[in-house]
Amino acid sequence: MTPEKNGGTAVLPGSYDPVTFGHLDIISRAANAFDNVIVGVVNQPVRKQQTVFSAEERVAFIEAEVAEYGNVQVKPFDTLLVDFAREHGAKVIVKGLRAISDFEYEFEMNQLNRKMAPEIESMYMMAAPQFSFLSSSGVKELAMFGGDIEGLVPDPVAVRLQEELKR
Ligand code: PNS
Repeated sequence: MTPEKNGGTAVLPGSYDPVTFGHLDIISRAANAFDNVIVGVVNQPVRKQQTVFSAEERVAFIEAEVAEYGNVQVKPFDTLLVDFAREHGAKVIVKGLRAISDFEYEFEMNQLNRKMAPEIESMYMMAAPQFSFLSSSGVKELAMFGGDIEGLVPDPVAVRLQEELKR
């Protein structure tokens, strides 16, 4: 039986540099829970280094993986997250949480976003255990030193990472 959806649109924001199977797990679970899901790809994250991939390529990586879902769109943005959510009529922001180390950062983001847009609720999905160690930065580090990244990111992403990063 298909579970009933909560209704409405949820935004799933992130840098996705690049998308991992952990992100894709959260996207697929959100697609089951909400009518519409918009994956928001930050063009140039403020607190992070220059991205390895352009926003266009990061969007394309995700689009290739979510094509089978009828209710997921992928869009780049370079505004405040809450403005992006408002622009798309989203009342919910969904984020994945792995370990406690994610909590502090997300807590701060939550307070900032809540102050600017109290009408938008942030909701958190716990990472599945098999992905709780997985991060884009970890995958990049492995790729840089020729480590095995199979099973961590989709194959086309792994190929491009190795082209970009292998020393
Ligand atoms: O950790 P990530 O994946 O790079 O997170 C990016 C994002 C946009 C989800 C996070 O920086 C956030 O929640 N920012 C809220 C403040 C904001 O709107 N900043 C402008 C975009 S960087």
